[in-house]
Amino acid sequence: PAGFLGRRALSTNSNNAPFPDKLAFAFDIDGVLKQGKFVLPQAKRVMKMLTGEDGRLPRPVPFLLMTNGGGVVDSERVKLLSRDLGVELNENQLVQSHTPLKPAMAQFADKVVLCIGGPKDAARKVAESYGLRKAVLPHDILHWNRTIWDRYKFGPADEELVRHDINFTTTPVSAIFVLHDSYDWGRDLTIINELMQSEGGLLGTVREDRHIQKPGGEIPLFFSNPDLEWKSDYPVVRLGMGAFSLSVSAVYKATTGLDLPFTQIGKPHRLTYEFADSMLRRRVKELRGADQDLNVYMIGDNPLSDIWGANNFGWDSILLRTGVYQGGEPSHIPTAICDDVELAVDWAFKNER
Ligand code: G3P
Ligand code: MG
Repeated sequence: PAGFLGRRALSTNSNNAPFPDKLAFAFDIDGVLKQGKFVLPQAKRVMKMLTGEDGRLPRPVPFLLMTNGGGVVDSERVKLLSRDLGVELNENQLVQSHTPLKPAMAQFADKVVLCIGGPKDAARKVAESYGLRKAVLPHDILHWNRTIWDRYKFGPADEELVRHDINFTTTPVSAIFVLHDSYDWGRDLTIINELMQSEGGLLGTVREDRHIQKPGGEIPLFFSNPDLEWKSDYPVVRLGMGAFSLSVSAVYKATTGLDLPFTQIGKPHRLTYEFADSMLRRRVKELRGADQDLNVYMIGDNPLSDIWGANNFGWDSILLRTGVYQGGEPSHIPTAICDDVELAVDWAFKNER
């Protein structure tokens, strides 16, 4: 990869080259703009520049944030990120891991769908924001029958989350959406494994032909984030939702002899990039009042997520050293490697001029 040597001050406005109208950015969040709760100061400066707020650019540069994180309703997350980054972002500038699932969810609008991920009823709130009317939580299932996972201490706080209008003895679960990290792997793995081998999604039943893979035999299962690892503020990379789906797959294989059938979205999958690309184009129209050809640079910290996906999709990619990637030959070769997000934006400006 083209290495970037040394730290330079942002010099995007310092020469007479024409403004790079086609330039656009897709920023990863964890390991690029943030490390856990910590917001990198370089990220705040970059945001202020690209939005045009600091007056260093003659006009704003289109960008969006594209994360495999989630578990928060998109409009809420936009508010939180705007506060963290010190700029006003709008909803067309954020793709979370589950955002591209919205169209797929439409067919389940009135079906009972199990939503997993995040604390409390986070997954249900996300699903409801995408139009699901009968989103249920693992808590609802435990309330129906605690012995499905008797290691869990079901307390008053859990009780408060329960919706009482669904009887799982007679009503099947039509689909499962894992929208964020499971907060209780044992409970959630057990319930998913059971449902995937059940008679049409009816809890407490086992399909006679569960050892035979036949399309449509199992209920649809979606995972929104394939990351095996990600970077928080802990010194060592953390296991992500990809580690959870691997675990579910391994247990399903051991109990049925079959590969777990599921749909995976999130970076590096193409659907997520297509979704982000169309949002960026909408953003350009908002900013400039017309369509425009774009050269998009994905700035990320994870070669297996950000870089692989961007390369496949035909975007340029810049790999940073502030997250999962720590040096050496990356598994997917980016257009450039930079020390941090500010230097990456600087590199892209120079590359476009
Ligand atoms: O759970 C979040 C993580 O897997 C990655 O987030 O922003 O680096 O795509 P991000
Ligand atoms: Mg990242």
